[in-house]
Amino acid sequence: MYTFKKLQQIVDKHLNNLELNNEPSELYEPIKYILEIGGKRIRPSLVLAAYNLFNDEVENAIQPALALEVFHNFTLLHDDIMDKADLRRNQQTVHKKWGENVAILSGDAMSIKAYELLGNIPEEFLPEVLKAFNITALQVCEGQQLDMNFEGRMDVSVNEYIEMIRLKTSVLIAVCLKIGAIMANATKTDAQKLYDFGLNLGLAFQLQDDYLDAYGDVHVFGKKIGGDIVANKKTFLLTKAFETADEKTTNELKNLISDTDIGEEQKIKDVLAIYNQLNVDKLLKECMESYYDKAIQALESTSVEHDKNYILKEFAGKLMNRES
Ligand code: IPE
Ligand code: IPE
Ligand code: MG
Ligand code: MG
Ligand code: MG
Repeated sequence: MYTFKKLQQIVDKHLNNLELNNEPSELYEPIKYILEIGGKRIRPSLVLAAYNLFNDEVENAIQPALALEVFHNFTLLHDDIMDKADLRRNQQTVHKKWGENVAILSGDAMSIKAYELLGNIPEEFLPEVLKAFNITALQVCEGQQLDMNFEGRMDVSVNEYIEMIRLKTSVLIAVCLKIGAIMANATKTDAQKLYDFGLNLGLAFQLQDDYLDAYGDVHVFGKKIGGDIVANKKTFLLTKAFETADEKTTNELKNLISDTDIGEEQKIKDVLAIYNQLNVDKLLKECMESYYDKAIQALESTSVEHDKNYILKEFAGKLMNRES
């Protein structure tokens, strides 16, 4: 079996070999840029890791793995426009560097490229993989729309928030595991259990993303700290704050959110002070742990011999403490 690190290296090798030196360069340069400036390669490595539970020839699953990484990077190009984010992976975002129109079109091209890569898989798997992928891609759009809808609302519940992150983030991580399993001819039951592992892991993953957006180190996280607060994103921290605050603090929070004159840094500082007072960071960690536990339960319920699960277990454990 391959270590997760080794799987990431295999993914990187193949990503570097993608044919992207086409014309016009204005379209392809940003694609090469976003794929070259790093990223943890979690999704494609999960495709290979799931495949590897059943089969050692992991290169057999490289095409869908690459497709999922290219698709993920496409969503980042458009997400950064929607979130007005200037920084990603410690570098300028594509729309900041080349403009929004370029980020939209290069993103579109990446989404098509993802389908092209997916089309390279053996015909016997194509209908099932394509179906799973299409359902997921649409769910990501639904989640992203909810994320935007929630910016304008103050009454988003923690449950609504969880449903939003299930759609925008978790289903993509989950489908990576499912596709890896399908490609390895796993049973439907095992593929579904691995999907459930990914779904719960994805929820924990997005919770940590919210945590790092408020409490991370900009140089390690590679994204602006406090970006979610500035954009009035309904993160776990904010929805939980609203759920637990008394009337006075609720009003303070509402005033901060609707204040259009307050400076960004002041807003971040004041909102963080309320988070700290309410201990919502601790509540986030508890919630994250509970999804992690559910993920591990799902992983352990497959028919795979238990000692083969250690790669995914170790990876999941590391994700809980990730700083980038
Ligand atoms: C960022 O995903 C988008 C989220 C779902 C939070 P990653 O944290 O996997 O981003 P990279 O690819 O490693 O940069
Ligand atoms: C990411 O959510 C979801 C998608 C990219 C689909 P975020 O907006 O929190 O991701 P980051 O923090 O910008 O990476
Ligand atoms: Mg974003
Ligand atoms: Mg976003
Ligand atoms: Mg985020």
